[in-house]
Amino acid sequence: MQGELKIPRHIAFIMDGNGRWAKKRLLPRKAGHREGVVALKRMIEECEKAGVEMVTFYAFSTENWKRPQDEIDALFKMVKEFADKHLAEYVKRGYRIMFMGDLTKLPKETVDALRKILSEAKDNTGMIVNIALNYGGRDEILHAVNRILDTGVREVDMQTLSDCMYTGGLPDPDVIVRSSGEKRLSNFMLWQAAYAEFIFIDDYWPDFDAKIFRQILEEYSQRDRRYGNVRRIN
Ligand code: IPE
Ligand code: IPE
Ligand code: MG
Repeated sequence: MQGELKIPRHIAFIMDGNGRWAKKRLLPRKAGHREGVVALKRMIEECEKAGVEMVTFYAFSTENWKRPQDEIDALFKMVKEFADKHLAEYVKRGYRIMFMGDLTKLPKETVDALRKILSEAKDNTGMIVNIALNYGGRDEILHAVNRILDTGVREVDMQTLSDCMYTGGLPDPDVIVRSSGEKRLSNFMLWQAAYAEFIFIDDYWPDFDAKIFRQILEEYSQRDRRYGNVRRIN
């Protein structure tokens, strides 16, 4: 019964557990990432169906460069393929597409594919699909502060700092969902998470499906969001 559910404006996913999903099946980690892309597509569909305004996916952190080079290469190859095959399709459906993080460090073919998508999607007005690539919350805050310093100001207010984040002008996540049972942020949206609800799911990311999405909405709907007040605000 969708009517009884509260739909978050912005839902953010920390996609974790691809490696363990693969290990459980005696498959290489790469196979887990491949299945993770399928789950990502499923969650985009679910968000669209539910009427979510914005969905963010944490795909590669500033710390993930510590992984073996062949895993990193495979991941960025998959990002490129995802852009060419699937993001291109989402652009046609009218979704707004954005990437947050320092894209300059990514392989050239991947960056080219992402830039192509950005230019094709520039006039779209639909659901926002935001993908965090080479993203770190601390890195983002530093980047924002440096942008402000460049303008020569001596004092920074909350609104200015907020506006200079990658998500400037967009709603903070109402809910941050992490898969695979890990209960940490791992440097994700540190600024924007101030009043987010947290939902931790034990299932690995490649197993995320419509049923789990529904559970997330049900759990979120029951949360009392008070923002420091004494009663529920939403
Ligand atoms: C998440 O799955 C994907 C990325 C961080 C790129 P992991 O690769 O972290 O999977 P586990 O945590 O090792 O199982
Ligand atoms: C967080 O997952 C980063 C992404 C999902 C992209 P990790 O697997 O890298 O996080 P840790 O190392 O367990 O904290
Ligand atoms: Mg992990």
